[in-house]
Amino acid sequence: MPALKARRGFRAQPFRYFVIGFGLVFLTCYYLVHEPASSVRTRSKDAARNSTLGFQKILVLSKSPSWRTRGLKAAAAYTGLDVEIPVQSLPTPEFIQVFRDLGPAEGKHPGLGQAYNWLAHLDLVKYAIALDLETVLILEDDADWDVSIKHQMQLISSAVREFTFVDEEDETPYGKSWDILWIGHSGEPTDNNTRRIEFKDPSAPLEAEYTGWAKKYFHRFTPGTRVMQRSVNPVGTIGYALTKRGAKKVAIWAGKGEDEAYDIHLMHGCRSKDLSCLVVTPELMHHYVPPRDFGYVSEVAGVNGAGSRAEEDDFEKLMGSTPNVLHSTRCRVLFGSTCLRK
Ligand SMILES: *[C@@H]1O[C@H](CO)[C@@H](O)[C@H](O)[C@H]1NC(C)=O
Ligand SMILES: *[C@@H]1O[C@H](CO)[C@@H](O)[C@H](O)[C@H]1NC(C)=O
Repeated sequence: MPALKARRGFRAQPFRYFVIGFGLVFLTCYYLVHEPASSVRTRSKDAARNSTLGFQKILVLSKSPSWRTRGLKAAAAYTGLDVEIPVQSLPTPEFIQVFRDLGPAEGKHPGLGQAYNWLAHLDLVKYAIALDLETVLILEDDADWDVSIKHQMQLISSAVREFTFVDEEDETPYGKSWDILWIGHSGEPTDNNTRRIEFKDPSAPLEAEYTGWAKKYFHRFTPGTRVMQRSVNPVGTIGYALTKRGAKKVAIWAGKGEDEAYDIHLMHGCRSKDLSCLVVTPELMHHYVPPRDFGYVSEVAGVNGAGSRAEEDDFEKLMGSTPNVLHSTRCRVLFGSTCLRK
């Protein structure tokens, strides 16, 4: 009867087993109840560097495969990001016209290209809602970022958590007390009179390296830092995250047209505080732009009738530039180079 024997063996030193067992259970319970806040912080910071940068999904807005999406996929693979590029349906010309005409005639209305872009963004927001995502990061398909994006997002995680007073026990990288977190844009006049979190980031451009309309606000930074704060005037939906609450609010806020463009309308919502918006400046992401001497025009301007698409095929062979991103991932992976816009 081996089973009985084994049992007898066990019972030979019952007290010792009891003490060890009790000790283990006690230690486990103690750890669960008193888990040090620092290990929760470590977990949330680790999540910010995962393959979706701490969001539940990264969705990319794209009309069709092109040098934009191929470059984006190469950059995503290089930095270890999982991105999803959903197939988007084109609205009918009739629907576009109705959308453009919404609101009083004397008010603002989107141009044709702006209306297509607007509705495509709305489709992605609704897709995120349908998937019931806790958070989503939406990128435009010409977005570019620094090769250190994962480290950058860990700094953003700490800054957002501190800025929005995320509970120590909360393991999410960015908490939930915001609607839009704007990490890719083409400018924000950072305001140094409001509450803000300034943090050192070796990948932050210095004033001499920064280009764009927001350069005139650069004296409001300590060199070598970025700033997290409520947004005042963010322009350009190059890369923005939404919480579940934010996606639902944006679908309503931006679902009725009546403004010149989607990004401008979100900015108006941020400014009026209908939307709770956080912004990081200088931005982490910007549009990669093909060489300028080849008649490149943006997709929005292209739909509006500016420029020609004849040279699009050349764009994959010729290095362009990205403003304000010191070590462009696209240029590293496609051309083995940096390509900061001068
Ligand atoms: C990354 O972290 C976020 C937040 O914890 C999580 O929702 C997401 O599923 C993670 N991504 C992957 C690919 O595991
Ligand atoms: C804020 O910006 C102003 C210039 O706009 C500058 O004179 C001032 O020193 C800045 N304050 C801080 C705290 O950086």
